[in-house]
Amino acid sequence: MCGIVGYIGEKNAQQIIVEGLRKLEYRGYDSAGVAVWTGTELLLDKAEGRLAVLEERLRQKPLSGSLGIGHTRWATHGKPSDENAHPHTDQSGAFAVVHNGIIENYLAIKEELLAKGYTFKSETDTEVIAHLLADMYDGDLVSTVKRAVQRMRGAYALGIMSAHEPDKLVAVRLASPLIVGVGSGENFIGSDIPAILEHTRDVYILNEGEMAVLTRSGVELLSVESGERIERELFHVEWDLVQAEKGGYDSFMLKEIFEQPQAVRDTIGPRIDEANKRVVLPELKMSDEELASFDRIYIVACGTSMHAGLVGKELIEKLTRVPVEVAIASEFRYRDPIVTPRTLMIVISQSGETADTLAALREAKQKGVKVLAITNVVGSSVSREADEVLFTWAGPEVAVASTKAYTSQVVVLYLFGLYLAQAKGTQTTEQIAEVVEQLQQLPAKITAVLQDTDGVRRFAESIKDVTSLFFIGRGLDYAVSLEGSLKLKEISYIHSEAYAAGELKHGTLALIEEDVPVIALVTQPDLYDKMISNIVEVKARGARVLGFAQEGDTELAKTVDQVVHIPATLPFLSPVLTVIPLQLLAYYASVARGNDVDKPRNLAKSVTVE
Ligand code: G6P
Repeated sequence: MCGIVGYIGEKNAQQIIVEGLRKLEYRGYDSAGVAVWTGTELLLDKAEGRLAVLEERLRQKPLSGSLGIGHTRWATHGKPSDENAHPHTDQSGAFAVVHNGIIENYLAIKEELLAKGYTFKSETDTEVIAHLLADMYDGDLVSTVKRAVQRMRGAYALGIMSAHEPDKLVAVRLASPLIVGVGSGENFIGSDIPAILEHTRDVYILNEGEMAVLTRSGVELLSVESGERIERELFHVEWDLVQAEKGGYDSFMLKEIFEQPQAVRDTIGPRIDEANKRVVLPELKMSDEELASFDRIYIVACGTSMHAGLVGKELIEKLTRVPVEVAIASEFRYRDPIVTPRTLMIVISQSGETADTLAALREAKQKGVKVLAITNVVGSSVSREADEVLFTWAGPEVAVASTKAYTSQVVVLYLFGLYLAQAKGTQTTEQIAEVVEQLQQLPAKITAVLQDTDGVRRFAESIKDVTSLFFIGRGLDYAVSLEGSLKLKEISYIHSEAYAAGELKHGTLALIEEDVPVIALVTQPDLYDKMISNIVEVKARGARVLGFAQEGDTELAKTVDQVVHIPATLPFLSPVLTVIPLQLLAYYASVARGNDVDKPRNLAKSVTVE
């Protein structure tokens, strides 16, 4: 995720900002930049690549001054490059902006500014903000920012400075995190606490829709909408630097699990036509006709990304009736798959660098197959080599065990499935609108799941000494079981297997004996009775069963030992919710066994060798 640092005081702003950016490196980035008010002009430098590249340039040509903003960029709109790096300025160079997140309606604003004669240097949504501020400036930076922000939809955090008023630094938060550090004769902004921890432990944590105006001597918090002053107690940070990098969580994995509402919101955000409740994917270059012509889809990936593909198969087939086959990349690449000009290949990769996935992509391209990539990393090999790309906007994932990337991948697959259904006309406008509305409610429902984790924690602690357990489910629940089982294996090292519940009796039932834990996913009404029968089969052999059901279900509790409820949604969307307690189950089991949650033995985050 991008990082923001800002400084106003008496010291060397460039140095404080670059040091702050270094503390945010763990979040991942692909370019960096700094803007400083020198006393006479607003100067900036920015560079693609590591922070060291920028530092070398600054060593040769320092920016000297005591007011500035800086940024590490994780590319979203536009590839990683010097031009697309932040800060961005308006044409006159009087306004500099750093930005995290997404401005959803930037294209509409950009067109308006283009019509007024503004010219753009980058492909970013951020540059639009700088020009908009210049266009709206009325001699008062704070009121201009307020009015400009009211025009921008999306989820973002901003740091803004202007040569017109070089005694101020303005920060705005709408959904993306932002904090203000309070010092003596100096104040700071940061997208994360580590950025400023070296200088102060007293911070204001901005809430949604709030802005902060920093001068050398003080900080004022304001509501963007009403302009009223906000009184807030300072938060004193007790964490050390490592704890602060994890946002106060015990591990990156837990932090990333809790980031899922945001990751899913960002991934869905810009892709819905609100007025018509339809999906829009402006990033796709292919026409609706070409899209509608595909009669077979391969989804190819590894690990957790492959499990997201299994959910994708079910939902794309349901929405479009196009047959979808999911293939493990290391198998697919050596398999001489049957393809025709009407075959579409979807590759899914969080990192965009997995060797087997990349090889499968190249193999398919050589056969003339159109390849659509779903990836989390702009500029990655997969994103550059595929014909089409849909990004997940999950932000960098640090923990080896993938969590927020999976839910974001599944969400992109929903969006793509709906989009394909629109192109093929296989769903009515009303059916599409209903799924879209329910999709938009998922972030709030994920938050609800994350607020009630006691049941899962208790069960996780109860399995810490078992040697083997089983997950069972049918249909979409089976697909999610596979991911739940993988998560548990990866970080707790407990042997587990996921089984299609109906298949148990063909062998695995022999392993069920007194007190063997079985986790049963029962969120699909069509398959409910069948699942109950399978649960009864394992109960009869003495299994201890944890069941997962949709809210409102009162039946399952009569058959299983413990029930965890997930918020009600369309059964078809439940994987995004059901997987969250399964991630937590793996997490708590791993902690209970004293393992290193973020760095499980023998595993790597990105497997770039075959
Ligand atoms: C590794 C990671 C997994 C990931 C898989 C595929 O095994 O540990 O978490 O699912 O690679 O990675 P990708 O970046 O291609 O999604």
